[in-house]
Amino acid sequence: MVDVTISEAAEKLKSGAVVAFATETVYGLGADATDPAAVAKIYAAKGRPDFNPLICHIADLSQLDGLVSVDERARRLAKAFWPGALTLVLPRRPDCPVAPAVSAGLPSLALRMPAHPQARELLRLVGRPVAAPSANRSGHVSPTTAQHVRDSLGPDIAVLDGGPCPVGLESTVIGLTGPQATLLRPGGVAAEEIERILGEPLARPQDMKLESPGMLLKHYAPRLPVRLEVAAPLPGKQEGLLSFGPPLPGFAHVVPLSVSGDLVEAAANLYAGLHELDEQAGLDGIAVMPIPGHGLGQAINDRLTRAARGR
Ligand code: TXA
Ligand code: MG
Repeated sequence: MVDVTISEAAEKLKSGAVVAFATETVYGLGADATDPAAVAKIYAAKGRPDFNPLICHIADLSQLDGLVSVDERARRLAKAFWPGALTLVLPRRPDCPVAPAVSAGLPSLALRMPAHPQARELLRLVGRPVAAPSANRSGHVSPTTAQHVRDSLGPDIAVLDGGPCPVGLESTVIGLTGPQATLLRPGGVAAEEIERILGEPLARPQDMKLESPGMLLKHYAPRLPVRLEVAAPLPGKQEGLLSFGPPLPGFAHVVPLSVSGDLVEAAANLYAGLHELDEQAGLDGIAVMPIPGHGLGQAINDRLTRAARGR
């Protein structure tokens, strides 16, 4: 394992290397977004299909105008939710210095200003937009600790350890390239909150796969099969339980997402819980209690559905 300091991480990024770093949502695998060779290293490290566009991370609002066309909706959302768990997809400017590979050739760019203090300091030191998808091998569960990153990407990856990620779910991705703001991926900011600031409902594409390739169903899959909306143990099975509210009895191993039924707490514990059960010896499946669909429950259920279907 290669633990790096913040100044080493910044130097590595400036010289074209990849570094994993903590954000408040999940760990990202970063590279200088303006350097095509550096960006290619992200795709290589993740084993990611190259049609999948990446999120560009910025430290400061002043970086925004040089990259994308910013409209009134984008300004309002950025003011309300940045720094934070929101990603905005906006039209690239013709002179945008970000490598086309970051957009996977699309005429748009996904941007986010993270809130994690260490990520903000890192981005400030680098002074350039940093492309960073979640720091896991493509198709694996996203990492919310430095150890998850090493387990998924191997011991040679440089990691800036910023502790466990407090939000624990990827950012919400909003498309602003057309007349109607579109929910491309539910995430760490609830869709209801975004609609309140926009003053209009978000469009929800029927087939998110086409709009946002990161929504591929194979995403977020643990090794073990996942069973959802569970009300009782299956006879003869050794399942681990992800519980919500008071845990059901009769399971081999229980990881509580939130004993009090708090969706924010459950989101923060989701990926760590999936990782823990997936690594537990002797289990043959993961059972998940029902999670309500409002607020962050929408993103939690989205990831769980993918985890259940995606193997
Ligand atoms: O919380 C997060 O968003 C984390 C941290 C590291 O910032 N990053 C992350 O990146 O989840 P990634 O690459 O795993 O997911 C990026 C998402 C995908 O769903 C991708 O398809 C979508 O953003 N996306 C990126 N650029 C896009 C574009 N130009 N148009 C549509 N969707 C885009
Ligand atoms: Mg990801």
